[in-house]
Amino acid sequence: MNKDNKDKLVFFDTTLRDGEQSPGASMNLKEKLLVADQLAVLGVDVIEAGFPISSQGDFESVKTISQQIKTASIAGLCRASEKDINACWNAVKYAKKPRIHIFLATSDLHIEKKLGKTREQVLDMAVKAIKHAKSLCRDIEFSAEDAGRSNMDFLCKIIEAAIDVGATTINIPDTVGYSLPIEFGEKIAEIKKRVANINKAIISIHCHNDLGLAVANSLSAIENGARQIECTINGIGERAGNASLEELAMILKVRSRYYNLKHSIKTNEIYNTSKLVSRLTGISVQVNKAIVGANAFAHESGVHQDGILKDRETYEIMSPTDVGVPGSSLILGKHSGKHALFKRIKDIGFKLEKSKTLEQIFEKFKALADKKKTIFDEDIIALVEEEDAASGKEIFVLGYLSATAGSKIIPAATVEILKNSDSKKTKPIIFRETAYGSGPVDAVYKAIDKIIGMNIKFTDFLLRAISSGEDALGEVILKVEYKGVIYSGKGTSTDIVEASAKAYIQAINKAKSYDNNNKKEEING
Ligand code: KIV
Ligand code: ZN
Repeated sequence: MNKDNKDKLVFFDTTLRDGEQSPGASMNLKEKLLVADQLAVLGVDVIEAGFPISSQGDFESVKTISQQIKTASIAGLCRASEKDINACWNAVKYAKKPRIHIFLATSDLHIEKKLGKTREQVLDMAVKAIKHAKSLCRDIEFSAEDAGRSNMDFLCKIIEAAIDVGATTINIPDTVGYSLPIEFGEKIAEIKKRVANINKAIISIHCHNDLGLAVANSLSAIENGARQIECTINGIGERAGNASLEELAMILKVRSRYYNLKHSIKTNEIYNTSKLVSRLTGISVQVNKAIVGANAFAHESGVHQDGILKDRETYEIMSPTDVGVPGSSLILGKHSGKHALFKRIKDIGFKLEKSKTLEQIFEKFKALADKKKTIFDEDIIALVEEEDAASGKEIFVLGYLSATAGSKIIPAATVEILKNSDSKKTKPIIFRETAYGSGPVDAVYKAIDKIIGMNIKFTDFLLRAISSGEDALGEVILKVEYKGVIYSGKGTSTDIVEASAKAYIQAINKAKSYDNNNKKEEING
């Protein structure tokens, strides 16, 4: 490693593309914009905003993000075809710093079995595609898909040809998370040694986590000369996910003397970003996840607590404030005023502009504080999310519900749903249905199904208490499948039947609006 002049490490975030490929993680345009905004605040250098040809919805979000984000480069993904590249360019061309990212498989397995081609044909496709992309855009990234399992001679040959015709970043993905750190590092070292023009491009890596080695492989690649890392918030992504941005950024900070690299991540924005992505994708962060898990800075054993009280460094290698975990907060309750609540909302990381929304949240806060002695951050997050959903363009909104259950009766529910209730001008259409079920939640879901009339299948249902105490709010997180796509929904209430109904309706709204905009194409390199 160069110990005198610090090299710059480029952070390429693909939460909105590879991350969004996690089952259930699909986000709408408004949600993607919120994530892109926060990624810019976090300081990532490149935001991969989507795969424009894959659907009209993806195209629109890449285009809108390109128009609105001014600091980071905006990349769009495409296959090595003119049609894909043109669609990608038409979406990213509005960006201050646009990037076209072309991927094409280079392993024999993918070339033969997936593409039905020969190495020569693939080489030719890559060269033609990059030449075409270069005629539109200066910044071109070429990804040799499944590079982790590609033949080294062919990999070096295609990289050299790609750089010759204008690729400025060469990405080496470990697409299926098969590599071991030592091997992956050696691969990068060999590329540096064997590719004659490699100094004209930045070497990037993109590691998947199938064996839990995504971060380790990324670090090994950096040690051997890679200078762009592709990663996602909370490590979400296809299958077991991608290398997690927060782990990489904190390793580079905590072990900065070892790595000696510059980068532009503002680590104190990590916690907010992680919360936002988890909230919008519906993918919870495991409690023991490094850096952003709920237990990452919790000390349970008496010996550890004693050590921490004497000197924090006895059991903490970084401070919670380094990653932006809010410090011990002031206790909020029914005597708290607007100012304290609004400050807390801001500290948690929400940006609420409209004073009307704030007033509505304050009213709900007061009502909750009447039921609950102490209001925790989780309660506030639930209030803000609920208000967010209510002020957005929700298609269906829960109007009313009543459910009965008992050991000697058949559970029944009546549900009222308002359709298109966001418009001030037109009155919402009101639907009401009654149904029986095996329990009150089942009866509510059957009544909702009668109203909605969509063929929806449940794939996951999780009920938990958020915050503490017997008066805690109940939270339901569920996943449903509609036309082969998974959608998540989240609902909170002091009443778990109501929380279940809200979660289901949120998932239905996502399915309905996503299905209207997104007819996804199969992604075949
Ligand atoms: O995993 C992979 O190979 C990818 C490429 C499209 C970069 O996501
Ligand atoms: Zn990937």
